[in-house]
Amino acid sequence: MAASSSFCHKNTILLHTPSTGYNKISSRDWLLRFPASGSSFSSRCRLSLESNNNNNRDLTLRWKASATSATPVMDQATSSSPAVPTIVEVDLGNRSYPIYIGAGLLDQPQLLQRHVHGKQVLVVTNTTVAPLYLDKTIWALTEGNPNVKVEAVILPDGEQFKDMDTLMKVFDKAIESRLDRRCTFVALGGGVIGDMCGYAAASYLRGVNFIQIPTTVMAQVDSSVGGKTGINHRLGKNLIGAFYQPQCVLIDTNTLNTLPDRELASGLAEVIKYGLIRDAEFFEWQEKNMQALLARDASAFVYAIKRSCENKAEVVSLDEKESGLRATLNLGHTFGHAIETGLGYGQWLHGEAVAAGTVMAVDMSHRLGWIDDSLVKRVHKILERAKLPIAPPETMTVDMFKSVMAVDKKVADGMLRLILLKGPLGNCVFTGDYDRKALDDTLRAFSKS
Ligand SMILES: NC(=O)c1ccc[n+]([C@@H]2O[C@H](COP(=O)([O-])OP(=O)(O)OC[C@H]3O[C@@H](n4cnc5c(N)ncnc54)[C@H](O)[C@@H]3O)[C@@H](O)[C@H]2O)c1
Ligand SMILES: [Zn+2]
Repeated sequence: MAASSSFCHKNTILLHTPSTGYNKISSRDWLLRFPASGSSFSSRCRLSLESNNNNNRDLTLRWKASATSATPVMDQATSSSPAVPTIVEVDLGNRSYPIYIGAGLLDQPQLLQRHVHGKQVLVVTNTTVAPLYLDKTIWALTEGNPNVKVEAVILPDGEQFKDMDTLMKVFDKAIESRLDRRCTFVALGGGVIGDMCGYAAASYLRGVNFIQIPTTVMAQVDSSVGGKTGINHRLGKNLIGAFYQPQCVLIDTNTLNTLPDRELASGLAEVIKYGLIRDAEFFEWQEKNMQALLARDASAFVYAIKRSCENKAEVVSLDEKESGLRATLNLGHTFGHAIETGLGYGQWLHGEAVAAGTVMAVDMSHRLGWIDDSLVKRVHKILERAKLPIAPPETMTVDMFKSVMAVDKKVADGMLRLILLKGPLGNCVFTGDYDRKALDDTLRAFSKS
């Protein structure tokens, strides 16, 4: 089998051939050797053949490798061939979907087009992202596919607009454009756009197809994956929403080149989270590579996004609707949401609030005797190196924390359950079984009474 380029990582191998583009195959065990791109690879792999595109113009070859490897990214594109995406699969039975990760993926229309259903597309974006990437996205949706009609709705930018009024603008556009059940909504932007567009897709005509094109670190490592969609209420974040999975997530890491430094750092809070709750080796990698991430080193970013998405995909496939395990992805978020809501949406970035919240959760875990001193210090150090806050804003009071935490989604039967670290690095618990005094002491240590 000849291929112009090949790629393999923990879950996936992808081949690209000049004649057929990407090809997808299924259901047999093969021993493979790829003499492509000046390198070879052999491994025992499970192959799957599916043609999930609409028009059979192209196919994707995706190997589920039985061998696992934690080696950093091996993007082997040559200058003459398109960048080969890293693929992480979110395994949810017949709602499974791929996450494509790589530099320049918006220049590869076939990746996106195979997931577009019907002939009508609505791109949902905002006033900041539209001038940067809307034309390119429309090109990627329509190149060689002139029958597709693309509409766009450009929303105001900001967490404070993640609300019902702004959501209504998406429905206005969809209804005015007479989009039918076979249309596809495309979220182009950060987590705010992804959450709103996803919720709009979940409810428009009781559910239409949906694609995520995340353009912030936050969205690329976290919010675009796993199907949580929704909007804020005045009294609390993300209180109105739905679980609704996309058809695919397309991550073009080149979009990070225009992201402000503060937004970049905000997304790193979620990357750090994965290391702390379940992936000690990844945390250690971050301790060594934080500088490369802040310098926007492309291969470091592809690796960090891939590893983050693998962690999230694994958790989501085990617990899609958050009956337990998935809640652990909210380390630092209960305290963090209180900061975001208490200060007013948009004052502190989500990741900044999560960083301060993580320090509070770690402090409480330490007070309970569940983690040792050295881990507390490592958490402070990595957050500082990522240029993230390690304490909430001074205006926060104990009462502000308590009143927002009382309506947290993790309150069950009146008891607030928290994600706390317990044991060595990489271990956490989701529990309501803790000494209330430790929570009170943490709140008092970090805010005014
Ligand atoms: N659904 C989930 O599972 C989940 C997980 C984590 C966070 N979230 C949500 O995500 C939101 C935060 O997402 P965010 O941090 O991406 O914020 P955001 O969507 O507000 O984007 C941050 C800023 O960057 C701008 N921007 C986006 N892409 C850009 C680019 N490539 N170049 C220049 N500017 C760009 C945006 O316009 C905005 O001003 C919160 O609402 C949070 O609740 C959801
Ligand atoms: Zn988050």
